[in-house]
Amino acid sequence: MFDHLAARSLPVSELAKLTGTHQRALHRCLRGLAHFDLFAKEENSIFSLTDVSRHLTLESEFSLIPWHQFCQSAQSAKHQKKRAIWEQLLRTGKSIYQLGRGHLFYDYLREHQALAAAFDKGMESMSQVEVRDILQGFNFSASEHLTEIAGGNGALISGVLRRHDNMEGQLFDFPDVVNRIKPIPRLNTVSVDMQASLPEIPGDAMMKRILHSYCDEQAHKILRNVGQAMRSGNKLYIFELIEDNAINNPYIGIKNLQMLLVHGAPGESGGPGERTQAEFASLLSTAGFELVETQRLPSIDAVVAVRKQA
Ligand SMILES: C[S@@+](CC[C@H](N)C(=O)[O-])C[C@H]1O[C@@H](n2cnc3c(N)ncnc32)[C@H](O)[C@@H]1O
Repeated sequence: MFDHLAARSLPVSELAKLTGTHQRALHRCLRGLAHFDLFAKEENSIFSLTDVSRHLTLESEFSLIPWHQFCQSAQSAKHQKKRAIWEQLLRTGKSIYQLGRGHLFYDYLREHQALAAAFDKGMESMSQVEVRDILQGFNFSASEHLTEIAGGNGALISGVLRRHDNMEGQLFDFPDVVNRIKPIPRLNTVSVDMQASLPEIPGDAMMKRILHSYCDEQAHKILRNVGQAMRSGNKLYIFELIEDNAINNPYIGIKNLQMLLVHGAPGESGGPGERTQAEFASLLSTAGFELVETQRLPSIDAVVAVRKQA
């Protein structure tokens, strides 16, 4: 990659052709690595070298290629296997679950229930700080009824309900996830496949850490289903990280790479991975919502959208 970019910046489509890689997997990977200053992202999916990566080319007078070659030769078989997985992912666009286990991530979990239960708990532990920040920094008082879509084992919605005595809530998730939730006062739990359809959402709705697992086509389908279940004028709160192309943020870089590893690069357009505010606005608009506000919280961001008139 670095040598191809040595002479000039290139659109990701051309870079993919030159290197025999899957264009969208490559794009998401470069977007992730740009946060570590290895690539500079220009407009319209064009990438160039940075002051750091200029020295990872053969032609640099300070070329680090011999060091890179030494590091590769010194690697253990275990590391080489990991590198081989990344190479396969970049060539095919398939996730590590598709490559290693022949399944998409969530399909694999459904077939391995002990792992699925461990995932619910793991997500809850990863969510603790975000839930605290949302409960402390985000105002839900305008919502009388709140539905959490794909809420896992309910850490966020139960926290919101505890703070608002008069609020009623719903939680949607896969049947096995819903069956594992212990009863929570004023919370109705409903089994769904949000990619197929959703039952009625009587008030406002929220989703945390959902859309970044999906490419644009899938995210669009989910949001359309959410929109069809909601009444116009009601609000959808989306808690995700908002990517800013002008700011290198290694946490967002890692999340981009992690989503690519776990979910691959299906579809024809952007994602999975973190999105910019403009990408959220466009996705929401084509699904019948209007982005009205964003809010930065310490560990996660909030995107507030209103369901437009059908
Ligand atoms: C990354 S976890 C996030 C859980 C929770 N929102 C949080 O932030 O801790 C994604 C959740 O989406 C659910 N999910 C994924 N695809 C789904 C689908 N098609 N229908 C219903 N739930 C789904 C998973 O079961 C899981 O609980």
